[in-house]
Amino acid sequence: MDSKEYWKQNAAMPKGRLKGDQWLPRHIENIPPNANVLELGCGEGYDTQYLLSKGCKVISTDLSQDHLDKTKETILRMPKVIGETIDSQLMLLDLTSETDWKKFADSCYDVVVASLCLHYFTPQQTRQIIKEIKRVLKPNGKLFARINSTNDLEHGANDGTPIENENNFRLTKDGTKRFFNKHDIQKFFGQFGGIDTAVERTELYGRKQTKKVLWEISATSDKLID
Ligand SMILES: C[S@@+](CC[C@H](N)C(=O)[O-])C[C@H]1O[C@@H](n2cnc3c(N)ncnc32)[C@H](O)[C@@H]1O
Repeated sequence: MDSKEYWKQNAAMPKGRLKGDQWLPRHIENIPPNANVLELGCGEGYDTQYLLSKGCKVISTDLSQDHLDKTKETILRMPKVIGETIDSQLMLLDLTSETDWKKFADSCYDVVVASLCLHYFTPQQTRQIIKEIKRVLKPNGKLFARINSTNDLEHGANDGTPIENENNFRLTKDGTKRFFNKHDIQKFFGQFGGIDTAVERTELYGRKQTKKVLWEISATSDKLID
């Protein structure tokens, strides 16, 4: 099954990620009010909802129209719906597509948010995606991201088979998944020049509230190097 079809089917499954997920609240002091935010892989729109409630302007993107529809439903459930222009806040973006990234101009966003969507890709794709994030961020802009850890054993860190002898990039029953250790974070996010924080956390995730071990990363674009 290709990844579009996988995420279409995934969107149809009930989830309920995160009552009480504190990951973005931990960073809100570093997100200016009225910030222009580009959210990648927005899923059901929980982070979109939080950011809108804090006064940010958010463009929510995803590979799957079904997830964008879920995000729209999440926004519409907010007590005060923000603006009449919800559809223009939602955009299809395949992170691996050069053409899709061209929809986004250079140096436009104060913040890029990417929760659990940067860890499905080949080394080349991962580097290219991080380069695009760097391109669309304003100088001094921030990236906040969460990615799988190599210790994420309940979510496939040891499952399936390594791809091209890369032990931390695996073909699992849910498709390709990358798992990061400290070295991998430096290897891929090192093009930011300086990562502000990279903290490994254990969270409860999804409808079944399984243990998920992940890295939470923040980085600032004025520290970027080519
Ligand atoms: C695990 S979910 C995370 C959703 C949400 N950010 C969250 O934290 O709840 C991964 C999301 O990444 C999206 N995704 C997967 N591959 C993608 C790609 N190539 N380009 C853009 N989004 C992608 C999926 O459609 C899905 O919404």
